[in-house]
Amino acid sequence: MSTPHDISSHIHQGDCIAGMNALRAGSVDLAFADPPFNIGYDYDVYNDKQGEAEYLTWSRQWIGAVHRVLSPTGTFWLAIGDEYAAELKVISKELGFTCRSWVIWYYTFGVNCKKKFTRSHAHLFHFVKDAKTFTFNDDQIRVPSARQLVYADARANPKGRLPDDTWILRPQDIPESFTAEEDTWYFPRVAGTFKERQGFHGCQMPEQLLGRIIRCCSNEHETVLDPFSGSGTTLAVAKKLGRRAVGFDLSPEYVTQGQERLSSISVGDPLNGPENPLHSAPATADGKQRKPTTTKKPRPAASRDSLFPEHG
Ligand SMILES: C[S@@+](CC[C@H](N)C(=O)[O-])C[C@H]1O[C@@H](n2cnc3c(N)ncnc32)[C@H](O)[C@@H]1O
Repeated sequence: MSTPHDISSHIHQGDCIAGMNALRAGSVDLAFADPPFNIGYDYDVYNDKQGEAEYLTWSRQWIGAVHRVLSPTGTFWLAIGDEYAAELKVISKELGFTCRSWVIWYYTFGVNCKKKFTRSHAHLFHFVKDAKTFTFNDDQIRVPSARQLVYADARANPKGRLPDDTWILRPQDIPESFTAEEDTWYFPRVAGTFKERQGFHGCQMPEQLLGRIIRCCSNEHETVLDPFSGSGTTLAVAKKLGRRAVGFDLSPEYVTQGQERLSSISVGDPLNGPENPLHSAPATADGKQRKPTTTKKPRPAASRDSLFPEHG
């Protein structure tokens, strides 16, 4: 693991397009972007209600800037809502990216809507610059297979298998909702009551979700970029995992608080979010089930928050 002296992480206050254009071409190994979704969300200084054409023109500009700063073997992850997922996927392809996976992040701790189905997912596009050569550390993210967990099948690959391309939260799994022992990873949206929440940014991404992406798609000492750093989650996880990181945000307030978050952590710190494995793999008729390898903490009594979705 890297020493803290090797790792620089900094959030710059200002527009990400100008900021990225000031970076050396090809200097970034992994970019993760969670841009404003253009749905009227109340950010500190950014107006999240632009005309459609304006939003798409701007999206093309910042995605183009990401493409330029990425190394020839670089990776770009894009988190986006339903409203513009299709358009931004097409734009990314036009700009030269190849889509490896279209991951659905499904969180049943969703946002209630009045006259449509409850909003409970976001899209995570995994793009690469070179369709053949890119970093994919599969050993870092493998999970036990059903052959291992349920059937105790001797033919199972002892390394497990790659996770599904749907990443799920079930409400009954809150708060112990993340596990490396199961064949699905559960990433809660960072809801109001969660200990992980920094409190100054309403769109904070879970550290465990960024952990999977950064471990899989970059190596220690490489450089991770977040053009829309918000609460600083990407940079915080990159630092903990021994990567260099650079971020941008328009809001002086978010930048100050994000930098404080970065100062409070060190290389090698554990990621926030539930870590204890669940042991809910079903048994087969003849009772085969892998024995738990760690002690399960008793589940706390469910709160109202964990049973009912937040209102939005
Ligand atoms: C969805 S939030 C990102 C949340 C982040 N992923 C986290 O975990 O906290 C989008 C952020 O983009 C910032 N933003 C909007 N336009 C920007 C621009 N042109 N340059 C840099 N930041 C911008 C907003 O201030 C907001 O903090």
